[in-house]
Amino acid sequence: MYSAAVITISDKGSVGQRIDTSGPAICEVLKKHNYDIKYTNIISDDISGIENELIKCVDELNIQLIITTGGTGFSIRDNTPEATLKIIQKNVPGIPEMMRQGSLTITNKACLSREVAGIRNKSLIINLPGSKKASVENLLFVIEPIEHGLEILNGQGSANCGEGERNEIKN
Ligand code: MTE
Repeated sequence: MYSAAVITISDKGSVGQRIDTSGPAICEVLKKHNYDIKYTNIISDDISGIENELIKCVDELNIQLIITTGGTGFSIRDNTPEATLKIIQKNVPGIPEMMRQGSLTITNKACLSREVAGIRNKSLIINLPGSKKASVENLLFVIEPIEHGLEILNGQGSANCGEGERNEIKN
């Protein structure tokens, strides 16, 4: 079982002007997939606050999967991808690629999310858009492969990479 944190990033949510529905929905999805939710918070779109929160989740709390929801769009205060890129050590472009590819089959507005994913130490950080619908849809597109990524990140082997894949090469 991997530990997880869910951080809702919203100016309005952080001061109680908007009820956070995406954070609890993401927690439900993660619990169903056997993640142990160790930490949740609602913070503002302030860029240094987001950076500090992500660093705390990784460096102090050692949480293995950190999900953010919100702040990935075009609003002047949408800073989540920039804060994430500042504190990760390795970029993981395949995760947002897969989320957008899947999401584009639902709405062409999926191209407006600037979400990123990356690794800091042994933690994986993934940005999701802010609405309950968009965040759950995006997460479900990657929930299966990220578990294998966490296995590798935590040194639990990569020997079975590709096993059981539909596109396995047979001689
Ligand atoms: N992805 C999915 N799967 N479903 C959606 O409804 N909404 C899009 C996009 N990604 C959407 C989606 C819209 S309208 C926006 S503006 C962006 O996510 C950014 O959202 P954010 O600013 O809440 O982070």
